[in-house]
Amino acid sequence: MNRAYRPSAQETGWTHEANLIAGERISTEQVLSLFHEQSTILLLRLGQEIVACVHVQGGQSGTYIGMLATNPTMQTQGIGKQMLLHAEAYAIEHYNASVLKVSVLSLRPELLAFYERRGYALTGQVEEYPLSAGVGQPMVTGIQVLSLEKRVRKPSIQASIVKM
Ligand SMILES: CC(C)(COP(=O)(O)OP(=O)(O)OC[C@H]1O[C@@H](n2cnc3c(N)ncnc32)[C@H](O)[C@@H]1OP(=O)(O)O)[C@@H](O)C(=O)NCCC(=O)NCCS
Repeated sequence: MNRAYRPSAQETGWTHEANLIAGERISTEQVLSLFHEQSTILLLRLGQEIVACVHVQGGQSGTYIGMLATNPTMQTQGIGKQMLLHAEAYAIEHYNASVLKVSVLSLRPELLAFYERRGYALTGQVEEYPLSAGVGQPMVTGIQVLSLEKRVRKPSIQASIVKM
């Protein structure tokens, strides 16, 4: 997560926050706090190494997909898209999701476009950057958090039978 979101100058992927936010994106304690009901972290491992991750959080008001990250040295090979697809399928299967939510920082148009190409749309909901959430401090002014949503539908049993 930290290597992907806030990479060093020697190890950058195609989109990250290193030029916008200082500090770590996530701490060990914050990762551990995600181990609870309706919260799942999907990992892609190559041997012992974690190559990519994504978090799926179920809930009444929708299912939130966050923490999508690919090792910077392995980006632009289709891994991020596959992780997002798995997260979406997991949300539908395990949390009965009908609405998927993601958040994007306002100063990351390339990431916004990445989600829009995958069917997510801006909701118009805009929040201030969470300064006290322990996810790093902005290095530039005017950063906001944009909300996106995508409506999904669990395939019905009837539809599956017709296909067969
Ligand atoms: C966002 C992230 C997970 C994508 O992972 P990835 O493994 O590189 O993603 P993929 O290889 O599957 O897809 C790359 C996509 O970006 C596009 N892309 C590649 N380089 C690009 C560039 N320089 N500018 C804009 N788009 C670019 C590709 O065309 C492809 O999109 P397309 O299939 O619609 O054409 C990864 O960049 C990352 O970990 N970033 C840091 C963490 C982060 O910001 N996560 C977002 C959470 S909200």
